[in-house]
Amino acid sequence: MSIFRTKNLTTILKEANSGGHGLKKTLGATNLVALGVGAIIGAGLFVRTAAAAADASGPAVTLAFVVAAIGCAFAGLCYAEFASTIPIAGSAYAYAYVTLGEIVAWVIGWALIMEYALGAATVSIAWSEYLNNLLGGAIPYEWCHSPFEALRSVTDPEAIKKILESAPILSKSIKDNILYMDGAQYDALPAALTESVNVTRGFINAPALLILFLITMVLIRGTQESAIVNSIIVIVKVSIVLLFIAIGWQYINPENYTPYFIPQGVPGHEGIFKHGWGGVLGGAAIVFFAFIGFDAVSTAAQEAKNPARDMPIGILGSLVVCTILYVLFGHVLTGVANWTEFKTAGKEASVAYAIKEYMPGYGWLATSVSVAILAGFSSVILVMLMGQSRVFFTMSHDGLMPKMLSDLHPKYKTPYKANWILLIFVGMFGAFIPGSVAGDLTSFGTLFAFVIVCLGIIIMRRTSPDLVRPFRTPWVPLVPILGMLVCGFMIVALDITTLTVAMIWMVVGLAVYFVYGRRNSKLGK
Ligand code: ALA
Repeated sequence: MSIFRTKNLTTILKEANSGGHGLKKTLGATNLVALGVGAIIGAGLFVRTAAAAADASGPAVTLAFVVAAIGCAFAGLCYAEFASTIPIAGSAYAYAYVTLGEIVAWVIGWALIMEYALGAATVSIAWSEYLNNLLGGAIPYEWCHSPFEALRSVTDPEAIKKILESAPILSKSIKDNILYMDGAQYDALPAALTESVNVTRGFINAPALLILFLITMVLIRGTQESAIVNSIIVIVKVSIVLLFIAIGWQYINPENYTPYFIPQGVPGHEGIFKHGWGGVLGGAAIVFFAFIGFDAVSTAAQEAKNPARDMPIGILGSLVVCTILYVLFGHVLTGVANWTEFKTAGKEASVAYAIKEYMPGYGWLATSVSVAILAGFSSVILVMLMGQSRVFFTMSHDGLMPKMLSDLHPKYKTPYKANWILLIFVGMFGAFIPGSVAGDLTSFGTLFAFVIVCLGIIIMRRTSPDLVRPFRTPWVPLVPILGMLVCGFMIVALDITTLTVAMIWMVVGLAVYFVYGRRNSKLGK
C-alpha cells in the first residue's frame, strides 16, 4: 500500500509554523479579493467568452458563467478549509499528499501541469491574437497560427451569392466583402462550392512563442512582480471590463438574443453539449477557464491576518465579483455582435472585433482594450509559469520529480532549469496547438484537481476529525459532493478530443510515477 503513504500533518504544520518562511501576516479580506480578481481575469474572459458562445451556448453564455461559478464556489469552500488548516505552499498537490496519499498527490501534481503549463500556453495564444489585432493583422496567418488551424475565405462575389443560397446563416460572417467560414461550415458545403474557398493553413504561432520566451527570461532573472504593478494591472483590467459593459450596453441589438440558446440542426452543433441547455453546460466547461486562478488565493493562506474569516471572504468574494462582471460582459458581447460571428470573422480578438464593427467612434476603446489586454495577459502568463515552476520545485523536493527541477541559479537563485524545460514544453503547445485545445485541457486539469480537493475534505474529516480547522467547509459532505458533481459534469461536457488527450496524459503520468516517482520518493525512503 506504499503508494498511498501520506505526509505527516503534524510535522508539516510544525515546519509551517516554525517561522522559517518569514512570511508576514499582512493580508486582509480586501487584499485577498484583489489578489483573486488579479489572478482570475484574463484570456478566459477576453477570448473564451466568444468561443463558448460560438461553440456551445450562443447568447446563453451568461448562464454558462453562472454554472461554472457554482462549481467553483463549492470547490472554493473546500479549498478554503484546506488553505486555513494546512497553510502551506503547493496548493492541491500538498493537500492531497497529506490526506489522500502519494499517488493521488502525484496525479494532482500531474494534472496541475495541465492547469498551469497549458494555461500559460492558452494565454500566450490569446496574447498573439490581440497583438496581431493591434497591428492591424500585419502578421501573416501562417506565422501566428498552429498547423491545426486554417482560414477559409471566399472573395468572389458570385461564389459568395451561391454559398449564401445554400447556407443563409453565413450572411453574418461577411466582413469587407469577404465571406469567412469555420471547418464545420466548410464541410457542410456542397462539393461544387468548396472550390471557390481559399484555405490558408497555420504553420507556427511565433508571437505566442515570443511572449513565453520573454516571460521565461523575466522569471529566470527573478524580477519580482511588485505589489504595486499587480494592483495597477488589476485596476486596468477591471476598468476595461466596466468600460466595455457600460459603453457596449448602448449598442446592444436585441435581435442578437433570438434565439437565446443555440437551436438544434445548426451544422457543427449536433452533440448534446453543443446546443440548447446542454450547450450551457458545454459552454460552462469552456468559460470555466475564466475562473481559474481563484485557487491562487488559497496559496496566500500563510499571509492572511485572520485566515478563518478572510480566506473564505477572499475566495468567495473574488468569485462573486468576477461572476457579476462576467455575466454582464457576456451579455453585452453577445448583444453587440451576433454569436455566429465569433465562429469566423470575430473569432479572434473578439472584444476588439465587436467594438470595431458595431461601436462606431470607439476605435480608441478597441485600441486601449487591446493594449490593456496584452499587459494583463503577460501578468497572467507570468503567474502561471511561476506557479508551474513552484509545483515542479515542490515535487522535485519531495523526490517525485528529478532533482534538477529544484536546482537554483547560482546568481539569481531561481529554479532556472525548471524554467527552461517548462519553456520547451509550454512553447510547443503555444506554437503548434490551437488555443481552444490548450484551453480545454487546462480546464480539464483544473476541474480534476477541484474534484480531488472536494473528495479530500470528506476524507480528512474522517481521518483527522480533531484537527484545528480555522475555517470549516459548511454542510460537509453535501457541499463537497455537489462540488464533485458540478465539476464532474463540466469534465464530461468537454469535447471528446480533449478527454482523449487528457486521459493519455494521465496514463503517461501514472507510468512516470511507477517508473520514477515511486522509487525516488523521499517519503518512501
Ligand atoms: N482565469 C485566467 C484567465 O482567464 C486563467 O486568463
